[in-house]
Amino acid sequence: MELDAKTLIITGASSGIGAAAALLFAAEGANLVLGARRGAELQQVADQISESGGRAVCLAGDVTDEAYAKALVALAQSEFGGLDGAFNNAGMMGDMAPAPEMALSNWQAVIETNLTSAFLAAQAQLPALRKAGGGSLVFTGSFVGISNGGLPGMGAYAASKAGLAGLVRSLAADHAAEGIRVSALLPGGTMTAMAGDDPDAHAFISGLHPVKRMAAPKEIAQAAMFLLSDRASFVTGGSMAVDGGMAVRLL
Ligand SMILES: NC(=O)c1ccc[n+]([C@@H]2O[C@H](COP(=O)([O-])OP(=O)(O)OC[C@H]3O[C@@H](n4cnc5c(N)ncnc54)[C@H](OP(=O)(O)O)[C@@H]3O)[C@@H](O)[C@H]2O)c1
Repeated sequence: MELDAKTLIITGASSGIGAAAALLFAAEGANLVLGARRGAELQQVADQISESGGRAVCLAGDVTDEAYAKALVALAQSEFGGLDGAFNNAGMMGDMAPAPEMALSNWQAVIETNLTSAFLAAQAQLPALRKAGGGSLVFTGSFVGISNGGLPGMGAYAASKAGLAGLVRSLAADHAAEGIRVSALLPGGTMTAMAGDDPDAHAFISGLHPVKRMAAPKEIAQAAMFLLSDRASFVTGGSMAVDGGMAVRLL
């Protein structure tokens, strides 16, 4: 049991990487608070966990909403007595377009959803981790935060994910002495709704990776689990690539 009795928030838990993380973390003994906008999908994940003997509650909302970030923490405290960490994973890709063709509204939505939400999550979660005497926060970045990843029109998404890595370094430095670790996870192309359902696009993205395939969501969740667990007790401030060699190819 890698996460025995740890109480964790997972955002973006209604599908993809977040849903895979919810099933994995619950099987490893965690108490979970699941977040995303689609309430029915979230409830399905929570029910699946309960049916297999795990512990999960959920609350639907938008991660760009400050009150929602606080409500997830309050739910962890009322349901499970505190908070030990969070997998802040919700994100969107937005429209792929070069800057002259990109709508300002798209830029703002991507920055709000992927970056401002991380600040709001940290602001709400850090006081609870202090109360617990320490903990671990993990944020989902992307290989696209390091380069454009061979994909066109990624300005807003790349800026949001690169900004996230900077926020993580700063949070890690500010809170290390309090026993709070903060890390980013940089997935490579992963078979989720975000990657679409076009086999040609999957083949193209697979070909960009040295391992010549995309990840299964569980492969990303396993790395998040390590960072949230006590096995990562000396790990903070970094961005862990879980990208099938993508970073090696690009640097
Ligand atoms: N798939 C990839 O190739 C890939 C590669 C690198 C990084 N990532 C990152 O991995 C993370 C998870 O994405 P995924 O691949 O698992 O795709 P996904 O299946 O589309 O999951 C995205 C999750 O984020 C939630 N979400 C989006 N906007 C939200 C908002 N405003 N408020 C609350 N929840 C919101 C979605 O739930 P609702 O729609 O129910 O709100 C969903 O649960 C993202 O941060 C993404 O940028 C993905």
